[in-house]
Amino acid sequence: MKSDPQSARAYRVDDHQPGGGFSADALSGLAASPKRLPSKYFYDARGSGLFERICEQPEYYPTRTELSIMRDHVGSIAAALGPEVRLVEYGSGSGLKTRLLLRHLESPVAYVPVEISRNALAASVAALGREFPRIQMLPVCADFTQPIKLPRAARAPRQTVVYFPGSTLGNFAPDDALRLLRQMRDEAGQGGGTLDGGVLIGIDLVKDKAALEAAYNDAAGVTAEFTLNLLVRLNRELGAHFDLAGFRHRARWHPLAERIETHIVSRREQDVHIGSRTFHFAEGEAMLVEYSCKYTLQGFARFAARAGLRVASVWTDPARQFSLQWLVCD
Ligand code: AVI
Repeated sequence: MKSDPQSARAYRVDDHQPGGGFSADALSGLAASPKRLPSKYFYDARGSGLFERICEQPEYYPTRTELSIMRDHVGSIAAALGPEVRLVEYGSGSGLKTRLLLRHLESPVAYVPVEISRNALAASVAALGREFPRIQMLPVCADFTQPIKLPRAARAPRQTVVYFPGSTLGNFAPDDALRLLRQMRDEAGQGGGTLDGGVLIGIDLVKDKAALEAAYNDAAGVTAEFTLNLLVRLNRELGAHFDLAGFRHRARWHPLAERIETHIVSRREQDVHIGSRTFHFAEGEAMLVEYSCKYTLQGFARFAARAGLRVASVWTDPARQFSLQWLVCD
């Protein structure tokens, strides 16, 4: 095979990766009442692969709907963001959406993906660096929920845009989501541009219960496998003794809180051992593992305002299932 000099290009990765969080968070979550585990631990290599398969399931509309919005409106989205931006993405940005955006932006200055998985980060910047050799790639290996100082671009940008697609904000409880929006606002406001920038964010919209519950309970059972992979991970990484057949996935719409709540439910009364510790599960006991919060357009505008962000533009699909929103610093 002919070697491609660009593919061998190595990017210096700004490393802020914390260690040991999974074990401490898992043990304290299992000891809590009610039990809970943070959804960010879904994404080990197997979990990330299962998530990609979820995105292809016919019931899981968010990914393909967000991509269709992007395809239909990328010209006006790029125009709203303006020229010479430093684009910060929370997540690895390996996907089609980031490519589309980078292709349509006018002379972007730098791309700063912030991603906890070193492998996903390396693969995404290598591919994007080949396709966009004129954009400075500044990868940061870090948990984006932690405030960290992100690298500045060599060439001064006009403004910083934080890109947060996928409706991932929905996986945070309201206080944490607000903290994260404020952090994005600060990055956009102080990111080294001559102007205050903004946040381009994917937000899933409230819709009927049947469509929502179907999206999180696909018929092929991929979401159930994704959820239960947390137990596989606990067994492998912490030497836990979860019997997978003793637990099931449950995802239900909570209409007042406007969110899908996903639990792992114990099918029977049982004890689970991790090292010297024992965790008791009653029959039917439910352990919270994920929120997927949905918003109305008005509700999200009010929420963003609390973080000092004003909704400047909203793009949706014709059925108004999903939205892409451009928020500017107020
Ligand atoms: C990544 N996140 C936005 C997905 C969601 O829809 O909440 C994760 C997911 N969980 C189950 N299915 C998809």
